[in-house]
Amino acid sequence: MNQTKVAQRFILKQTSTIIKNRIVKSAMSEGMSTENHLPTNSIFRLYQAWAEGGAGLVITGNVKVDDKSLGEPRNIVLENDENLELFKKWAEIGTTNSTHLWMQINHPGKQVLKGVVDEAVAPSNVPFQPNLQRFFPKSRALSDIEIKEIIQRFANTAELAKRAGFTGVQVHAAHGYLISQFLSPKHNQRQDEWGGPVENRFRFLSEIYHAIRRRVGDKFPIGVKINSSDFMKTGFSEEESQFVISELDKLGVDLIEISGGTYEKAALFGKNAKPSTVTREAYFLEYAEKLKQKTSVPLVLTGGFRTLSAMNKALETGATDFIGLARPLALYPDYPNSLLENKASKLSIKPIKTGISFIDGKGLMELTWYSQQLNRIGKGKKAKPTFSPLLSLIITLFKNGKEVFQKRRV
Ligand SMILES: Cc1cc2nc3c(=O)[nH]c(=O)nc-3n(C[C@H](O)[C@H](O)[C@H](O)COP(=O)(O)O)c2cc1C
Repeated sequence: MNQTKVAQRFILKQTSTIIKNRIVKSAMSEGMSTENHLPTNSIFRLYQAWAEGGAGLVITGNVKVDDKSLGEPRNIVLENDENLELFKKWAEIGTTNSTHLWMQINHPGKQVLKGVVDEAVAPSNVPFQPNLQRFFPKSRALSDIEIKEIIQRFANTAELAKRAGFTGVQVHAAHGYLISQFLSPKHNQRQDEWGGPVENRFRFLSEIYHAIRRRVGDKFPIGVKINSSDFMKTGFSEEESQFVISELDKLGVDLIEISGGTYEKAALFGKNAKPSTVTREAYFLEYAEKLKQKTSVPLVLTGGFRTLSAMNKALETGATDFIGLARPLALYPDYPNSLLENKASKLSIKPIKTGISFIDGKGLMELTWYSQQLNRIGKGKKAKPTFSPLLSLIITLFKNGKEVFQKRRV
């Protein structure tokens, strides 16, 4: 019998969802859609590799709920059933090998880079910090009616994902996108029912949850990815995050994924992590430990896990129920199989640096370099861990132009 904790199955009680092991492939934006934002053969090949790779739950890269609010040129969008067949094919391939495939759904709000959309929208008209203003366009505050329309868009995309055969959805409420902007006291300065105290800032996310639940029913799992903190002085704090997660637990959310940070502070990639955190691998482990004392909602802890021993330890101490992995699975899609068979060796995953500090500090190279690896797998090739970051940057600039490089997002 396999004694490895990561190999044990888990049941999400409310929806009676059985997940065959504790490894979750976390969302990675693929940037591989057609020009019309539909799934491609490359997407199918990539998700086949992940389904065969052994993770119990695979979460897609963020799929946009509105084609007027894209993050990047090749984002996938699901807003109507005109091409549902392609999404059905994606779901069918991604759920082979008894894999759960959940669609991550997202609206970027003002975190869209210049040139991608005509007008960025946000909870309030608050600019990004000066060194990011060169990337992001000015934004305007959403009206009450527009907020309600976006809530319905999330519900619509979730229902379409269910119809296509995805086995769950994950709402992206982390990393500085629209929901995360609503949660942040820095970016949400509204005076109405959507702003002010954390109870009001949480309203947008709770209304999205209710709207989705009404459309997908009680037996379809809904997850939420959320920041442990924005790591900004006036941003969404740890205490607020704990409050929001307790409320989500009461509402009946099936699975919470913990991450942290935004473009303003790229904590999700372990930027500026303390040495003690680096030793324990998982960037947000301490936070998960605190959270587990207060709530019983099943957790995925994501960011930094690289060894089987650290994963098993986090599971055994009860700090988390699942281990979220992103970058390792962009290089080794079958890494979960080796973990499950207890044959995995320690991964050497180094920060991706070009030596140009303006670029390296923001986590942009992590996105560019790793998405090039996803593209290789989509073409049926193996990933190339030795690929030079500088060459990756040059190729990106050459192929897509400087502007598109700036459009990479998490
Ligand atoms: C290329 C790339 C794309 C990403 N896209 C998304 C995304 O669409 N949604 C999301 O929630 N996180 C995204 N992330 C963040 C990962 O899900 C994860 O939180 C982060 O990489 C830390 O986990 P790791 O240390 O296992 O890589 C992305 C990361 C990478 C490298």
